[in-house]
Amino acid sequence: MNPQASVPNPGSAPRYARITGTGSHLPPRRLSNADMVGLLAERGLETSDEWIVERTGIRARHFAADGVHASDLALHAARAALEAAGRSAADVDLIIVATSTPDMVFPSTACILQNKLGANGCAAFDLQAVCSGFVYALAVADAMIRAGGARCALVVGAEVFSRILDFNDRTTCVLFGDGAGAVVLEASDEPGILATDLHADGKHVGILCVPGHVAGGQVLGDPLLKMDGPAVFKLAVGVLDSAARAVLAKAGLTEADVDWLIPHQANIRIMQGTAKKLKLSLDKVIVTVDEHGNTSAASVPLALDAAVRSGRVQRGQTLLLEGVGGGFTWGAVLLRY
Ligand code: ACO
Repeated sequence: MNPQASVPNPGSAPRYARITGTGSHLPPRRLSNADMVGLLAERGLETSDEWIVERTGIRARHFAADGVHASDLALHAARAALEAAGRSAADVDLIIVATSTPDMVFPSTACILQNKLGANGCAAFDLQAVCSGFVYALAVADAMIRAGGARCALVVGAEVFSRILDFNDRTTCVLFGDGAGAVVLEASDEPGILATDLHADGKHVGILCVPGHVAGGQVLGDPLLKMDGPAVFKLAVGVLDSAARAVLAKAGLTEADVDWLIPHQANIRIMQGTAKKLKLSLDKVIVTVDEHGNTSAASVPLALDAAVRSGRVQRGQTLLLEGVGGGFTWGAVLLRY
């Protein structure tokens, strides 16, 4: 049993949960849009760098090698986040992995990651909210920490979306990539997470899904990603705006207080639309979709870590994190970094 993993007394619950370290990892195989043109040409399909850049802002994505799973990418990101926080695996008392591309049907990728990290004994579970997964996981970890149920959480988004892409569907396969991002979230009396806002609307299941399932030792249905892009696009801009306004109102802040918007990295046009509605300058939006593609639950922590390590995000700044994805799910986390 992890000696640090004791649950504090209810009376000792902290006021805040605060990010103390970030980390991320991209698999080394980088595919440019020109590489995707070649890959699709082998299947008799046409695409172009111009089409992909103009419609999405994506210039490249990374794909994991055969045999590399979400937990492997998560392990790199988690170690980097722990190092940045000055923590070791023995300090961790909660692991949440947001993923839609788990290593196995079960056990959870969080349990597999826990064992690889050597953090055995602490609570560990996966959270499934597709591209909103990391924002959901951060909100859940925040609630658990403030309730006194954990003191040092590892919150990870990790995906190998390349495994569920249909390379005969040019409308989706050029959009996604693999990667992982992580944060260490710790109990603190100094401001950290200020407000969270989560939503889902299951009537939109069909516009973004992987409709296959396992039964009788076989995969039944179609285990590849299906998306009605224009329908997703339309919904995304509206819900990202409402979630942003909700967290700002809960925290008693306004758009003018936001130093950085770190939205789910799906499409540059969705990010521009969201910033415009919030009257935020594009200079305040962290963009990594150009180099990462859409890495689903990994996209927000990947973007956050890139912004921290490049020195753009500084301690004391106010960050607005936003997710939107299959479910349909969406949400926001407002925090003081
Ligand atoms: N290369 C060249 N042409 C293409 C490609 C391609 N890769 N893909 C589609 N086209 C063609 C289409 O066939 C269509 O041709 P047609 O007019 O002759 O029929 C034309 O381009 C336009 O297609 P649309 O789908 O209308 O293009 P749109 O401008 O809507 O862009 C896109 C498509 C990029 C998918 C956009 O709708 C989008 O970004 N949607 C949101 C996706 C998203 O944000 N997902 C996030 C959630 S992710 C998650 O939760 C897992």
